[in-house]
Amino acid sequence: MAMESAPPGELIASPSGDFTLRASTAHLHKVVLSTDILNPSNTVLADMLGFDSTLVVTTPSIARLYRNRIEHYLQATVQRQSQILVIDCKEETKNIEHVLKICQAATQAGLRRRSQIVAIGGGVCTDVAALAAALFQRGIQMIKVPTTLIGLIDAGVGTKNAINFCSRKSLLGTFSPPKASIVDLTFLHSLPIRYISCGLAESLKMAIVARPDLFGILEATGPKLLRTRFRDPLEAATAVIRISVESLLTELAMDLFERSSYERKLDFGHTFSPYVEEASGYAIAHGEAVAIDIALSSHLANQLGFLSDETMCRILDLLASLGLPLYSRKIDVSGIWRSLQAVIAHRNGKLNLVVPSAIGSCTFVRELADLRPSMLQRAVEDITSRPLGRGVN
Ligand SMILES: NC(=O)c1ccc[n+]([C@@H]2O[C@H](COP(=O)([O-])OP(=O)(O)OC[C@H]3O[C@@H](n4cnc5c(N)ncnc54)[C@H](O)[C@@H]3O)[C@@H](O)[C@H]2O)c1
Ligand SMILES: [Zn+2]
Repeated sequence: MAMESAPPGELIASPSGDFTLRASTAHLHKVVLSTDILNPSNTVLADMLGFDSTLVVTTPSIARLYRNRIEHYLQATVQRQSQILVIDCKEETKNIEHVLKICQAATQAGLRRRSQIVAIGGGVCTDVAALAAALFQRGIQMIKVPTTLIGLIDAGVGTKNAINFCSRKSLLGTFSPPKASIVDLTFLHSLPIRYISCGLAESLKMAIVARPDLFGILEATGPKLLRTRFRDPLEAATAVIRISVESLLTELAMDLFERSSYERKLDFGHTFSPYVEEASGYAIAHGEAVAIDIALSSHLANQLGFLSDETMCRILDLLASLGLPLYSRKIDVSGIWRSLQAVIAHRNGKLNLVVPSAIGSCTFVRELADLRPSMLQRAVEDITSRPLGRGVN
């Protein structure tokens, strides 16, 4: 965890003899947007590595594509052979075993409290490594180098981490701002198209609730960015990433630990999606589940009178043109409805479903009583009868 110049705490002794310790911590999380960061002439990553040892955590696909370049970079810049740990971790196995494997490797590599873990990979990799960094010796420094679009604009620049537990998505995790995130869109050049679509779902989430300018860019260039893996048009590619990162950090800055409010714009697309992922046995990827959630939430917004027909259609059309599913036969309305109980428990007794009211603004459906299963049924029937895109899988 990045803690620099933490202000001193305060001890308050009450007349009754109890003590209250108020300790504040300064969190400094640097997010650097750079390109070609594994080129030794780019010292952004090297400059962040302290003199202490480093454990690089990555996954098999990144190791296959980039291991030589990572090793060469570290030797050429910090002149040090760092340990590289490859964990074969996917959503289905995003569990405590992998966290413990990283902690074991950190022990064997002799990591100390001022050492760091550098995670180079998708959201699964950065989440698992960040949880290990938060636990190891009660928290060591973490640098996230995201390599997927979801990573670049969300998981890799966010402050929380989680693993799945007891068949529940993201049940164990911590809020642990990393020391730094390094955002380099050139990693997207090797990313399978399916995962570019997934990242576009997260970007679209932010566009719909907060950034009409981003929505416009996605409408105009999203399908081309998808086809070219963010190579062309480069100006739009850079803008999508910059605006998405900025809007995520703006929301996080207001409530870093999700304590002051259970009404969070960033929860758009994340009410039904945990159920969608779990019910499909994680065959539906996170971004695809977010897309399905966006489609359902937008349709419900329309039924409740918050969102016009025209704007709902723009959202559904854009999802489809970005190669995203709008629904899946792997889920059903009764399952979706039942899953809302867990959401309500997580959101302190309120449903707080985020629904769009226009492009760039949203509102909240606070109580479950404001919805009915028949509304969900109607949304599903209408969405699945649409001819566009991948539609239903
Ligand atoms: N902590 C957060 O705030 C946060 C936010 C959003 C999502 N998440 C989590 O992130 C996860 C989804 O992340 P994801 O979409 O990055 O999926 P992922 O990590 O599973 O990566 C997708 C696939 O792409 C491969 N890959 C990654 N980068 C590549 C590259 N540059 N070239 C080729 N292949 C590459 C991976 O090995 C994997 O097979 C979910 O578990 C979700 O819960 C966390
Ligand atoms: Zn998400």
